Amino acid sequence: MRIDILTLFPEMFGGVFGASILGRACAAGLMEIRTHDIRAYTENKHRKADDYPFGGGAGLVMMAQPIFSCMEAVLSEGAPAKRILLTPRGKPLTTEHARELAKEERLLLLCGHYEGVDERVMTLIDEEISIGDYVLTGGELPAMVLTDCVSRFVPGVLGSELSAEDESFTDGLLEYPQYTRPAEFRGMTVPDVLLSGHHANIVAWRREQALEKTKNVRPEMYEAWMAAHPPVVKKNKRRRKPKTDTVSPESVNTASVEDQP
Ligand code: ADE
Repeated sequence: MRIDILTLFPEMFGGVFGASILGRACAAGLMEIRTHDIRAYTENKHRKADDYPFGGGAGLVMMAQPIFSCMEAVLSEGAPAKRILLTPRGKPLTTEHARELAKEERLLLLCGHYEGVDERVMTLIDEEISIGDYVLTGGELPAMVLTDCVSRFVPGVLGSELSAEDESFTDGLLEYPQYTRPAEFRGMTVPDVLLSGHHANIVAWRREQALEKTKNVRPEMYEAWMAAHPPVVKKNKRRRKPKTDTVSPESVNTASVEDQP
């Protein structure tokens, strides 16, 4: 997958894309990430890329001309790209959306800055994405977040030992606690079940922990998960006397417990 990033601060990206899993993915040719300096495309003698907003107001607005010129130059070669503006007024990024974007051959990310971009730039943009309901100083960090998040779904990037699926949000719950060696550290021990080698019990424990964590930290997510996974009520066909069925803790969501990888 190729990602072109249009920014006023290309120097911000080197470390992030050169290290760890993304760095390896780029070195292996699975990802090709290029940054482009919007300021290099300005046509005024002071290389100004922003100006005061018509109608007044605080802050500066990114000018249309350098963005149009930069985008036209970048898109004049290579495959057509899905063009995305990173902005707090965009649609919030989700795992599902990242998975869809990973199917694209090429993305172009425009990093907004200051008080926004000249609205005429929107004629070049396919979608606006926000990484959360807070305002950052610019779209550079959001572009890094989006690139990282999308790359996890590009085949081969995580390698065979890791999966983008067995993690928080992919099945609507937060992740269960993880431990590694040693089994005891400063008097703190690892739960016995994880050392038991009993796969079914480990799966059940992890599901229980994920539910507990989600209930405490993200109650709205927990409610949504419970609504999507109604309790399984076991019917006793051999029972003679009609009796009201009750839901035992063991019978709750058993199908989902077994389904967990
Ligand atoms: N630019 C500034 N804040 C942002 C956010 N939350 N998401 C995307 N782009 C942004």
